Amino acid sequence: MTDRPTHRPRRLRRTPALRDLVAGTDRHPGHLVLPLFVKEGIAEPTPITTMPGVLQHTLPSLRKAAREAVDAGVGGLMVFAVPERKDAVGSAALDADGILPRALREVADEVGDAAVVMSDVCLDEFTDHGHCGVLAPDGRVDNDATVERYAAMAVLHAEAGAHCVGLSGMMDGQVAATRAALDRAGREETAILAYTAKYASAFYGPFRDAVECDLRGDRATYQMDPRNRTEALRELALDEAEGADLVMVKPALCYLDVLRTVADHARVPVAAYQVSGEYAMVEATAARGWIDRERAVAETLTAVRRAGADVVLTYWAVEAARRMG
Ligand code: PBG
Repeated sequence: MTDRPTHRPRRLRRTPALRDLVAGTDRHPGHLVLPLFVKEGIAEPTPITTMPGVLQHTLPSLRKAAREAVDAGVGGLMVFAVPERKDAVGSAALDADGILPRALREVADEVGDAAVVMSDVCLDEFTDHGHCGVLAPDGRVDNDATVERYAAMAVLHAEAGAHCVGLSGMMDGQVAATRAALDRAGREETAILAYTAKYASAFYGPFRDAVECDLRGDRATYQMDPRNRTEALRELALDEAEGADLVMVKPALCYLDVLRTVADHARVPVAAYQVSGEYAMVEATAARGWIDRERAVAETLTAVRRAGADVVLTYWAVEAARRMG
């Protein structure tokens, strides 16, 4: 009898109770954030073809969806809006009675302090060219003019009831300018979620259907290059110095290494966004019976937490919360 193993890691895998006892990653519904879409001028909630199970909401159905999420234990709601009219400068974004502030008022009124109400501060839902900012005469995205608009938008969102504004545009200086504008407006309590390492990703494809964004060109001059990791630390240092309360890595699955790196260095909580294309990839594969949907969803969420996310934005938030709860 030689070479019987002395070390048997399988001992701790033997029963569900043993596995639960030593599990290194916990999944808690309070860390989940559900992104929600609302569209101006529609009479009925409308399915998004490339995101099966996700809807463009009306104001009343948005309210209902927010309630349902909170009842399931979801910790936050991130609201995106599609305006009826888009133009070159995204004017509808700066209307205090525009669709996004209106939606935020409804959601804030519905959920109170039972969940964190978040808003997307970006122009791509509002511009007819689909870029995240306004364009300079030469056609490039004008950083500083865009940042001024983000700051004004953030104030409108805070006044409408957002507890936290999400700066997703990847413009330089957006956090500092927004913090200053919020403070000037007496909104020093409103938190800033900075999209710190947001990559120029193919996985945003279905989202562009959800917000009807017909992008001309690409976002390579402002979103990060997928080949870079260390640059995320530079963005992190800037966002922290500018006053970000939370930082985000996006997308999640293809960037788990970046998430780990950011989580190791951040002095503020770290969020990760499991984006539309990650959702669609699992849904489409599962619909063909090629993977076990429930297990795949749980596994991706676990991976994102394990890589270091304190907060996870996911279109599966409600279903995952129900399963955890
Ligand atoms: C920009 C924004 C995008 C997403 C969230 N905020 C799109 C983009 O940068 O092109 C994508 C989210 C997703 O794909 O689920 N407002």
